[in-house]
Amino acid sequence: MQVRQLSEDVINRIAAGEVVERPASVAKELIENAVDAGATSIEVVTAGGGKTLLRVSDNGLGMRKEDLHLAVRRHCTSKITEDDLFDIRTLGFRGEALPSIGSVARLSIQTRHQDEPHAWAVTIEGGAEQPIAPAARKKGTVVEVRDLFFATPARLKFLKSDRAEASAITEIVRRIALAYPEIGFSLSGADRQPQTWAPAGPEGRLARISQILGKDFVDNAMEIDAEREGVRLTGFAGLPTYNRGNAQQQFFFVNGRPVKDKLLLSGLRGAYADVLARDRHPVVVLFIDLEPALVDVNVHPAKADVRFRDGQLVRGLLVGSIKQGLVTSGHRSSTSNAAVAMEAIRATGFTGPASAPRPAAAYAPPRYERQSGFSARDFAPVPAATGFSETPATSAPHLHQPAIASVIEPSADARAFGEASQEDTATRLPLGAARAQIHETYLIAQTEDGMVIVDQHAAHERLVYERLKESLAQKAVARQLLLIPEVIDLPEEDVARLAERAGDLEAVGLVLEPFGPGAIAVRETPAMLGEIDIQGLVRDLADELAEWETAETLKERLDHVAATMACHGSVRAGRRMRPEEMNALLRDMEATPLSGQCNHGRPTWVELKLNDIERLFGRK
Ligand SMILES: Nc1ncnc2c1ncn2[C@@H]1O[C@H](COP(=O)(O)OP(=O)(O)OP(=O)(O)O)[C@@H](O)[C@H]1O
Ligand SMILES: [Mg+2]
Repeated sequence: MQVRQLSEDVINRIAAGEVVERPASVAKELIENAVDAGATSIEVVTAGGGKTLLRVSDNGLGMRKEDLHLAVRRHCTSKITEDDLFDIRTLGFRGEALPSIGSVARLSIQTRHQDEPHAWAVTIEGGAEQPIAPAARKKGTVVEVRDLFFATPARLKFLKSDRAEASAITEIVRRIALAYPEIGFSLSGADRQPQTWAPAGPEGRLARISQILGKDFVDNAMEIDAEREGVRLTGFAGLPTYNRGNAQQQFFFVNGRPVKDKLLLSGLRGAYADVLARDRHPVVVLFIDLEPALVDVNVHPAKADVRFRDGQLVRGLLVGSIKQGLVTSGHRSSTSNAAVAMEAIRATGFTGPASAPRPAAAYAPPRYERQSGFSARDFAPVPAATGFSETPATSAPHLHQPAIASVIEPSADARAFGEASQEDTATRLPLGAARAQIHETYLIAQTEDGMVIVDQHAAHERLVYERLKESLAQKAVARQLLLIPEVIDLPEEDVARLAERAGDLEAVGLVLEPFGPGAIAVRETPAMLGEIDIQGLVRDLADELAEWETAETLKERLDHVAATMACHGSVRAGRRMRPEEMNALLRDMEATPLSGQCNHGRPTWVELKLNDIERLFGRK
């Protein structure tokens, strides 16, 4: 086989395959170039989701004629010299973006450097370069990309709808804008409503974060500022209760570079693991700053991954400072962590009898995955030792429980109710007879050979979900008309997504329609849910729709929606229940398949066998 040197054009197209995945990646490269050029104002204009047009104008330094000539050549950069690949202080450094874009699109650049008498322009179409010509521009640079991928039509087929590509570009602008509050950004075009982010004044970063994520976030976040061995971590991390249905609102920056790094994302999951259900995600904006020599950004052409020289140090700093923040914010309930609770008992002087099992050992880490719940036929209770170390983040009241000593009476007491004979039969049932409700959150029931503790919110959520699914299957979800439609302000992309799925949502009992470009009006809700927090429900649904895969079947999608609705329609923790309600809930659970776990995979109930209780007290 003959070995050949490829032409520059082919080399550029190969590089383009990695650097330019979609219009949003072009936007990212061009905006980063403008930031590197010291711009204080960056304007982005798009059409057709960035496929037909993407134009980035800046007021930065501009380029001299000879630099412009080189800028569109491969491996030409003004940002690093031969020996500082490990001292990168700019967003770009590969000298690849412009030639790559020029090889697959129609690229034109006009730029004015202060040393030049006038501006210069160059055009490249599918790799073919026109000679540089004089142009009219006072300051800065404008880069225009038209007909992206016209030269590689196969690539076009992989792009999403114009709307999806347009919103990916919005995400990129938001992301970069978060890191550079001193730069003003504007985003407009035929495919969108114009948006601007004015340069933020003295409060800088905080003001920009409010502009982009809303003041809500800042009010519900803890400020992080920590340093370890030359690595600084600053920014804001949302409180657990301010969680979202997907991980899209997690912004990390390493030396000002937006990254989506696995090490950081997994650290974040770890930091919140105790206080958030697995399918809920915190919102964070975090900045890591360190000596450029301590981090390698030359990992992937798109520069979204980085490699820290000491990954464990960075992860430890991230996890440690967030956990610390959670403790000081008072949002980490002691009940969320069995070990902490057991420590507290020991600290008050409690020492178990010598023969008792070590308390901490009795509370093994939960294993929800294996728990199967029960049906009338297949009764498989949760072993006594599970389920005590995770707090459902969806039920905020857990986080503020009064000290045990202040609780004198149970929330509700079921002893006096029900005839003795009924009682006897009830205790023989799998979930037993309701005895009490404590902390307005848990039901205690007595079974033949032990006791059952039920998380009322989790249990009810499961029941509502199963019922919703059943009526869905029969196409008979009853709806209730709202007297006054509820209007909810949402980002335009969310409104569009919800509107597109209005039919699916109606099948599940939720009737809504767009109310202008930035709001949704909800007219009917599923009757089964009763009074619900419509705002919360719709926001969560919008988050979920953003995550839907095209491969998901209609049934899977409707089930998702039903699960989200069930969560919002359930008896919240913190509601006092009447004895007959408690017993009805237990009986319902027995009759409902899969009721052993809530929709988030947490157990809905746990059983303590008399045997275990006796052992705990050294009776056996
Ligand atoms: N908006 C701009 N203003 C001034 N100079 C620019 C601008 N855009 C590009 N340049 C110049 O053109 C050069 C090439 O840009 P290009 O984006 O291709 O490579 P890079 O930014 O150096 O590295 P990377 O490929 O990592 O982005 C840059 O090094 C810079 O000198
Ligand atoms: Mg660049």
